[in-house]
Amino acid sequence: MIMTRPTLLLAFCALRAAAAYYPLIEYSGTTFFDGFDFYGAIDNTTWGNVTYVDAADANAESLAYVNGAGNAIIKVDNSSTVLEAGIQYRKSVRLTSKYKFEIGTLFIIDALHMPYGCSVWPSIWLNGVLEPGQVWPAAGEIDLIEAINLFDHNQMALHSYAGCVQPANVTQMGHTLIHDCNDTTASGCTVAETKPNSFGAGFAGNGGGAFGLQFDVAGVFMWFWPRPSIPASITQATPTGTMDLTDWGMPSAAYPAAGCNITEFFPAQELVVDITLCGLWAGIPDVYAGDCPGTCFGNNIAGNGSNYANAYFEIPAIRTYTIDAGVAASASASAAPQTTGSASGSAAADGANPTQVTTTGGAGRTVSTPVIPVPLVGAVATILLLGLGLGL
Ligand SMILES: *[C@@H]1O[C@H](CO)[C@@H](O)[C@H](O)[C@H]1NC(C)=O
Ligand SMILES: *[C@@H]1O[C@H](CO)[C@@H](O)[C@H](O)[C@H]1NC(C)=O
Ligand SMILES: *[C@@H]1O[C@H](CO)[C@@H](O)[C@H](O)[C@H]1NC(C)=O
Ligand SMILES: *[C@@H]1O[C@H](CO)[C@@H](O)[C@H](O)[C@H]1NC(C)=O
Ligand SMILES: *[C@@H]1O[C@H](CO)[C@@H](O)[C@H](O)[C@H]1NC(C)=O
Ligand SMILES: *[C@@H]1O[C@H](CO)[C@@H](O)[C@H](O)[C@H]1NC(C)=O
Ligand SMILES: *[C@@H]1O[C@H](CO)[C@@H](O)[C@H](O)[C@H]1NC(C)=O
Repeated sequence: MIMTRPTLLLAFCALRAAAAYYPLIEYSGTTFFDGFDFYGAIDNTTWGNVTYVDAADANAESLAYVNGAGNAIIKVDNSSTVLEAGIQYRKSVRLTSKYKFEIGTLFIIDALHMPYGCSVWPSIWLNGVLEPGQVWPAAGEIDLIEAINLFDHNQMALHSYAGCVQPANVTQMGHTLIHDCNDTTASGCTVAETKPNSFGAGFAGNGGGAFGLQFDVAGVFMWFWPRPSIPASITQATPTGTMDLTDWGMPSAAYPAAGCNITEFFPAQELVVDITLCGLWAGIPDVYAGDCPGTCFGNNIAGNGSNYANAYFEIPAIRTYTIDAGVAASASASAAPQTTGSASGSAAADGANPTQVTTTGGAGRTVSTPVIPVPLVGAVATILLLGLGLGL
């Protein structure tokens, strides 16, 4: 769709209600993993050849830890030898949040590095909490970060029962691949990121970036900003301060309620961080062959794991916010306070020295939070120009 600049501005202002969000739960620093459970089973949902370790094994094998910079590392085992004979699995990690997030939540993920390489399939996503007897996708699924193999871009999606679609006239930066969230191929309603450096070696080489997700009655909206373009509202956020989206610019993916009743299709959601290998997407022979040589298992999982040196997340912080002051207050009151260690966080890839803020974060935990000191000029203008350049 061709739009003049004023039309574009109006259209995207109309997407968002000006509202302040209250801090909910923050995952960062030495307490990053406290708010998550470890899966402790094989990948029985996307059938990658991984065993998702339990907490004890993750610790023993150093697959989930906080590094010297205060950032969470979540990785694939790249030091064990896996044989080619028989049914084999390599160790990896799947984290599920203990907290279940209701509609009205905002998520901000700051990452310096995301897993990539042949056979590698990482994701940060929301998994709808099923009632007894229900089966996926009865409670929906919202994929904020997901890509495979040597993809150079992120791909976003919703999954739902029939009746939820992305409207054709949607206002977003990304490129829609599939409109029906109940797509028969089980891909969901997918949108490919069009901003550069949203995944892979490009993302890592650019100092990473930030992702935003608004899970709202008005719709589900997703953003990506390369490190130099992260809005000031995020780089200058404080753990107790509210967040508003005024400077976030146009979303990369937009699923407005006009096409999908969010309340109906997306009840409470768990936040999931995982890395699988091969399986139902990265390992499909034709898909795999598009990027990578040989076979997904034989050329990658089998062997000594030295090809998985890039199969890790490095995450300074995941911050969540709620539009409901009552929810923020009760989440804060329900958790026992605890004292943190002295993580020295570093989220900046530009060599600046981040300010360390220690305060009472989400769920009443005292957390140590890296503040990303990247001054931001003209991000919205850049986004708009990019959008115009892409003919949106
Ligand atoms: C996967 O395995 C876990 C642990 O055994 C089990 O709790 C869960 O129900 C399984 N999920 C599916 C979809 O089979
Ligand atoms: C990979 O995992 C799948 C699903 O568990 C299994 O069917 C297959 O045999 C495994 N492949 C190898 C080579 O272990
Ligand atoms: C599509 O929706 C129907 C119910 O309306 C459900 O049974 C099916 O599992 C869904 N399929 C996918 C791929 O989401
Ligand atoms: C898209 O179309 C729907 C109905 O067809 C309408 O309600 C909505 O306002 C339109 N949105 C934009 C951004 O034009
Ligand atoms: C959306 O779904 C909710 C829950 O099922 C329902 O209460 C509401 O009326 C629906 N809204 C619209 C516009 O259909
Ligand atoms: C691991 O395997 C690769 C490929 O087979 C080989 O090039 C490399 O030398 C091996 N590394 C170690 C430490 O054995
Ligand atoms: C394993 O990966 C880490 C990065 O996560 C890297 O520093 C290390 O050198 C790798 N080890 C091997 C044996 O390749």
